[in-house]
Amino acid sequence: MKIGLDQKMKRTVMLFLLGIVFACQNDKNTPLPAKPGETPGSITTPVTPGPTASSCDTVSISFDKSIWPIVQNNCISCHNTTLASGNVDLSTYDKIIPYVKNGKLYGSMMHLPGYSPMPSASSSLTSCELIMVKKWIIGSYPTGTILVDLKPSNPVNPIVTITTPVTPPTTNVVCNPDTVYFKQKILTLIVSNCAMSGCHDAISQREGVILTDYNHIIKEVNTKNPSSSSLYTSLLRTGEERMPPPPMAAFSKDNIAMVLTWIKQGAKNNSCEASGTACITTNMSYAKDITPILQASCTGCHSGTKPQGSIDLTTHANVSKYALNGKLYGSVAHLAGYIAMPSASVSISSCDISKIKSWIDSGSKNN
Ligand code: HEC
Ligand code: HEC
Repeated sequence: MKIGLDQKMKRTVMLFLLGIVFACQNDKNTPLPAKPGETPGSITTPVTPGPTASSCDTVSISFDKSIWPIVQNNCISCHNTTLASGNVDLSTYDKIIPYVKNGKLYGSMMHLPGYSPMPSASSSLTSCELIMVKKWIIGSYPTGTILVDLKPSNPVNPIVTITTPVTPPTTNVVCNPDTVYFKQKILTLIVSNCAMSGCHDAISQREGVILTDYNHIIKEVNTKNPSSSSLYTSLLRTGEERMPPPPMAAFSKDNIAMVLTWIKQGAKNNSCEASGTACITTNMSYAKDITPILQASCTGCHSGTKPQGSIDLTTHANVSKYALNGKLYGSVAHLAGYIAMPSASVSISSCDISKIKSWIDSGSKNN
């Protein structure tokens, strides 16, 4: 690629060339084909620059704009008509599609087990490119099925950012800022910090205490004398007696106060939904929107020297890894094939799930 060429100019040239190619073509399913006798890998015309960090558009995905340049820049040199490595020819749209349908394009690009890692075992596409591929292949990523009617030039993925909650609200109670709701605030906090294995899950039951659900948690509560509740006093103790015990971090002052408020308000098994307009899921920030969700519901188990499931969710690098392989969303949305998080019976709010999805869909940035 000629470095001197100015970016805008290159695009104009490219669009112009595209125009000619399509104008001359009857079969629109075959974009930018190699001319007869020419090896696609040796094309000398300017090639659309691969997406770079600054031009990472994971929102409007199309074959021509998003996928074809990736294939040209990373795959065509080995997978063309003349040199079809592994018998795989990726020189046209029609030839690529069977590998979309059989999962091999996705599996090899994502370096999934059971597939030959591409472009090679030691080099991957950029995370931006992987997101584009993922969205192009999986319609309503990551829950959708493989699209079979992909057409070049068509924007392929209509569902990019979810603005409505993923699961329909189970209750019409709109969250009141003065009320502490069990399902949204207390349950996830307690489960995340107390109900891990070795502590107060149903199997370990340290000191006979189980803190996995409302019916068990309520046993540690005294609504007649809220501040004598063991659920509350255990948080205030010092040294080894404190819950959660060192080296785990103590609850923050705010969280301790919140537990007491919930008990004072009657320790109800209550729940609310942020109303449609209150749940803002656009322009999600890792620091401001995602980290607080993880801290409230996940890092109690997924941090420290021995994080549960060997998964540490306290750094952006780790969280984005699980964002990219689909497990973060799959687990919080309780999708089939993933281990339900925070637990099979506890979900984070649908608003928080939508926030996580939106953040993942826009590239799981460290913003
Ligand atoms: C340096 C040469 C080279 C490059 C670059 C390359 N491949 Fe391959 N590819 C091969 C070889 C060789 C095989 C067959 C051997 C194997 O399966 O490991 C193969 C196999 C495949 C297969 C079949 C995999 C399977 O599990 O059956 C797919 C799909 C594939 N490549 C896609 C791609 C894609 C997509 C790219 C670009 C992101 C790419 N390749 C880049 C050399 C390459
Ligand atoms: C009570 C402890 C606990 C809490 C709270 C918890 N996890 Fe987990 N998580 C685990 C354990 C244990 C595993 C490993 C389970 C296994 O491998 O069977 C796991 C596995 C996972 C996995 C891998 C899932 C898969 O399908 O492979 C992800 C991703 C994950 N957790 C994310 C989260 C997120 C996000 C939250 C917060 C919303 C969360 N976890 C809250 C204990 C917890």
